[in-house]
Amino acid sequence: CGIIGIVSDAPVADRLVESLKRLEYRGYDSAGIATLEGGRMDRRRAEGKLRNLEALLLGQPLKGRIGIGHTRWATHGRPSVANAHPHATTQVAVVHNGIIENFRELREELGGTGCNFESETDTEVVAHLVSRELREGRTPADAVAATLPKLKGAFALAFLFDGDEDLMIGARRGSPLAVGYGDGEMFLGSDAIALAPFTDRIAYLDDGDWAVLHHDRADIRNAANRPVRREIQKTAATSLMIEKGNHRHFMAKEIHEQPTVVAQTLGHYLDMANETVHLPGDVTIDFARLERISIAACGTAYYAGLIAKYWFERYARLPVEIDVASEFRYREAPLGDNGLTIVISQSGETADTLASLRYARDEDQSVLAVVNVATSTIARESDAVMPTLAGPEIGVASTKAFTCQLATLCAIAVAAGRARGTVSAEEERALVGALTEVPRLMNEALGLSDEIETLARTFAKTRDVLYLGRGTSYPLALEGALKLKEISYIHAEGYAAGELKHGPIALIDENMPVVVIAPHDAVFDKTMSNMQEVAARGGRIVLITDASGAKQAALPTEATLVMPDMHPAITPLVYALPIQLLAYHTAVHMGTDVDQPRNLAKSVTVE
Ligand code: G6P
Repeated sequence: CGIIGIVSDAPVADRLVESLKRLEYRGYDSAGIATLEGGRMDRRRAEGKLRNLEALLLGQPLKGRIGIGHTRWATHGRPSVANAHPHATTQVAVVHNGIIENFRELREELGGTGCNFESETDTEVVAHLVSRELREGRTPADAVAATLPKLKGAFALAFLFDGDEDLMIGARRGSPLAVGYGDGEMFLGSDAIALAPFTDRIAYLDDGDWAVLHHDRADIRNAANRPVRREIQKTAATSLMIEKGNHRHFMAKEIHEQPTVVAQTLGHYLDMANETVHLPGDVTIDFARLERISIAACGTAYYAGLIAKYWFERYARLPVEIDVASEFRYREAPLGDNGLTIVISQSGETADTLASLRYARDEDQSVLAVVNVATSTIARESDAVMPTLAGPEIGVASTKAFTCQLATLCAIAVAAGRARGTVSAEEERALVGALTEVPRLMNEALGLSDEIETLARTFAKTRDVLYLGRGTSYPLALEGALKLKEISYIHAEGYAAGELKHGPIALIDENMPVVVIAPHDAVFDKTMSNMQEVAARGGRIVLITDASGAKQAALPTEATLVMPDMHPAITPLVYALPIQLLAYHTAVHMGTDVDQPRNLAKSVTVE
């Protein structure tokens, strides 16, 4: 979910909505704002996309110079007006990101005191708890201070109080929240993107902090209720262009940006002139001493990690243990001495990934974060950070963040190999040379877009798709299936090509397309055998390979996408593009909401 709050001396409703537009990627099943006009609280909420709230406000505008806003990704209670934030009593309104885990107990406890609950949410209980404290004569700050320790779970909260036009309170535990410093006005926001149009001076609250905002200042206290200062940073977010340009969707724009942003990221980690890897000075990991690497991540970032596993094992001869973060955090895996944990995350806020990081720290691992948001919680809590320079990714389905993660992880693997003596200077030159070629090869791959668009017309009519690959093309098959599911709602599965015969082969018929990702690499022949097994059963094959692969395949396919030739190490970076384009064009043909697919959110700060 996304949170915005403004304390100002000018009207805020339009700006709240403008900010919610930027936050919509965090959730979009309902939205709402509350303001105080002449000291009295009023709110507007609407189910569905933000445009519904905008339409409502057109007919019933809200005045007021202080207000809070929220865009929701449902956890407790289905999307509806009643469940939309802000939740309010007559005294206080609140917006919330996260989950109050003990809300049932709290609700029962409040039940006896005559509270009328209007929603099924966990959030509403917070408004009632604060109200009860206010009724007992506490000041708003004291009422919030008394309430916060009662809440279990993760949250970012912003409160507005009836009768006080110069007071807003924000609190964070688990979920991110930042304070923005304007010119005679103050802001709360769940990220820098939310605050970008208004200010570039931002202080990130630490876990457990809460802040009392007036139009000209913020008083921040820590979990122990002691006044603290949090550094005000200048963010670059204001200058970020968060627009679609000539593209129909953010996802299309982000797919096409990949040659540029991957070049940017590689430029950060490679010394291209000398053809060596060059990690930033603050990354002081002693790779030679490492005994193993563990990787935790979610979604697309997890698949980037799965590809990196192959690189670390092959080039650095380091054993890699990898799991989805929601499992990793609870598995109680023994991680051993001299271990490095790598967490990978676009947002740097994913709750499960953050919890995995904390688990790894408790297990005495050094922690390296590969994140796209350099100011994120994951970045701040890690020992070392290697940012991906993808720029803001708005499309919910990750594309450019994924390939920038791969570029960064490949650079780390080569650096680790050099440090461990498993990659010679000559091999390093070859690998760096290959990585340097990636942006050019990506540009060539984008040239397949029209061909893929035609192919996608038939995909839009199918119910299931299978993706196959071996080696690093296996995780890419998983990512291909995920992309298609996410945005077209077509059921898709990725499989290791060799595993086909152990089950999924039963699914093959003349209706289900089978996408075979097979660059002409060391396992090409093996993958071809599996493709033969599909062909022998009348399956519809879409082969993604290079010119020599296409020649050797010598098999009728429904389509063969011919990629440029490249070094086998970098195929996942470049082959990701036709995979993304296939999902994209299919979804466009299906008429789904490509950038904001149903039920998903870009940044998932709950378990
Ligand atoms: C959500 C997004 C995915 C993303 C995953 C991990 O599910 O929809 O696109 O891969 O979270 O997010 P992160 O920000 O940690 O990379």
